[in-house]
Amino acid sequence: MDYDRVREVDPSVADALDGELDRQRETLMMIASENHVSEAVMEAQSSELTNKYAEGYPGERYYGGCEYADDVEGLAIDRAKELWGAEYVNVQPHSGSQANMGVYLAVLDPGDKILSLDLTHGGHLSHGHPKNFAGQVYEVENYEADPETGYIDYEALADHAEAFEPDMIVSGYSAYPREVEWERIQDTAESVGAYHLADIAHITGLVAAGIHPSPVGITDFVTGSTHKTIRSGRGGIIMSSDEHADAIDSAIIPGMQGGPLMHNIAGKAVGFGEALDPEFEAYAQQVVDNAAALGDRLAEHGLSLVSGGTDTHLVLVDLRDSHPDTTGKEVEEALEEAGIVLNANTVPGETRSPFVASGIRAGTPGLTTRGFDEDACQEVADCIARVVDAPDDESVREEVAADVDALTDRHPLYE
Ligand SMILES: Cc1ncc(COP(=O)(O)O)c(C=O)c1O
Repeated sequence: MDYDRVREVDPSVADALDGELDRQRETLMMIASENHVSEAVMEAQSSELTNKYAEGYPGERYYGGCEYADDVEGLAIDRAKELWGAEYVNVQPHSGSQANMGVYLAVLDPGDKILSLDLTHGGHLSHGHPKNFAGQVYEVENYEADPETGYIDYEALADHAEAFEPDMIVSGYSAYPREVEWERIQDTAESVGAYHLADIAHITGLVAAGIHPSPVGITDFVTGSTHKTIRSGRGGIIMSSDEHADAIDSAIIPGMQGGPLMHNIAGKAVGFGEALDPEFEAYAQQVVDNAAALGDRLAEHGLSLVSGGTDTHLVLVDLRDSHPDTTGKEVEEALEEAGIVLNANTVPGETRSPFVASGIRAGTPGLTTRGFDEDACQEVADCIARVVDAPDDESVREEVAADVDALTDRHPLYE
């Protein structure tokens, strides 16, 4: 991509855009929630649909001139239904967080109770953190992952639900490396008369490809981001049975949004179309195989993985056993200098502040998009382990940066 027209009118922004393109080409994107979408998705996202107001839904808009907006939204909806097998789909949420807000608004009243995973155990802000709207509007309590095993403590969750009597249980997580047992949580939700929202923001692509069990048809609601493992236009999505369609439609508009971001919905349609190609299943399987290879090699280097491994696109390393004096933040910063971009993350039973944290989270969706296989991911694990062992050693960071250059040269991006 070049930004010649931006450069003509705004060289400062063009410099930043060029810088970002180079950054993505020259570093390893290992933030588990990120991916590199196709140039077709980016082209759709920068289309003239950015100019269009299309409040309402296909065939029932509050503005004229919506025929192409209708086409694009209809395609996104139909493809999403085919990908995830949902009866009802809303592709208008501006993000995964907005999708969650839409579900809450659709069926909860202010003051209702939400039971969700603690943020430091892998939950998300929009599941009811006190600083998030959900934590301010609803009464929220948290369940946890077992600090010994790293797995969701399903029994404790059930006991907690019985005592707290929530109106909504939220499952689906930001930093959880294992398969989620949707049925088990659904049984708990049914036993206490709560709705169950499965937020598959991170694993939308794995679920679409059949690599991770799907909550669709099991839980009352499924939400997600559309730019993570599913690699489509940036935004959110809500799925449910037809029973909740009207409530969700009106929670999104007029409840919480105005005009949908039609250009992003075009990006969703294109990305969903790409994900319907059989090649996407191979991609999603490779994402998971790569994460397993990455995790195995990190463990060979003596690093502890939360839950002992991964079933998904990410690994969560707990530094406390192997490197008790090293924080996640130090490792994140040292790795970034060496060209590996991931994030410090809290771990179950965290003892440090979330800002410094005792763990690092590493994902493989971005690497897999640019063609990394298991061998390449093991090389990446070797690089990470060298920096974890010596985060303050400049010569180690330089050596690793040279290895990262070789890896990115072997797997070029956006040529
Ligand atoms: C579980 C979960 N839900 C929701 C979100 C929010 O998604 P978005 O950034 O699209 O609002 C995230 C973001 O990573 C997430 O991990």
